[in-house]
Amino acid sequence: MFQFQHFKDLGEEGLSLGLREGIGRSFAELNKDPCYQLGGAQRLRAMTKFSRVDGAWKRLEDQSFYQSAGINRYNGGVQRTFNPIDETCVPESFLFSLAQRQSRLFGIEEGDWQLNVHQIRIQTTCGSEAEGLSTPEGIHRDGHDFIAMMLWKRTNVRGAASRIYDLDLNLLEERTLEHRGEGVLLNDRQCMHAVTPFYPEDPSDVATRDVFILDWNQRNA
Ligand SMILES: [Fe+2]
Repeated sequence: MFQFQHFKDLGEEGLSLGLREGIGRSFAELNKDPCYQLGGAQRLRAMTKFSRVDGAWKRLEDQSFYQSAGINRYNGGVQRTFNPIDETCVPESFLFSLAQRQSRLFGIEEGDWQLNVHQIRIQTTCGSEAEGLSTPEGIHRDGHDFIAMMLWKRTNVRGAASRIYDLDLNLLEERTLEHRGEGVLLNDRQCMHAVTPFYPEDPSDVATRDVFILDWNQRNA
């Protein structure tokens, strides 16, 4: 139903310094999400969609993203459009490598799938004790078949524990993603999730939490 994993090769062993620096820079250059209206905290994000048909990956041009109001109490019911992920800093080869390994862990190496890759930074405002909310919608499903949330980096963050629940809202596991490449993979039809609020460890500085979220949906299912 869910599994915590640590993809250690997202760190120094697996990624060149240039790639790590480029990906880190791209998080800082993400656009602010106007749909995230919380005093003292911001969400910055980009998204790119891909298809995998007969084993071949293809980038899709569509930049729209929709979740129903029933699924997303905070931003559901509206069509949102995000800028694409900067592929010069976050190359497709990196994303496909990550996706292929997730695909094996989910047991979905066969069949045709759509993959939405979200690159998201939640940050608090410098000098505040503002609460950073990674999941302002509370305990929720995302409305996909499978999802994976992978930590890229957390800086000056206290809190932000990942929680997994069954469909009756019983807490199944809580674990804090601390290191690059740590993530949780889950069947989004069988369980729910949330991330607890976070705060700046040092209140005189910003707190940032950078993640990649991958949504998997079977095509023509
Ligand atoms: Fe979610």
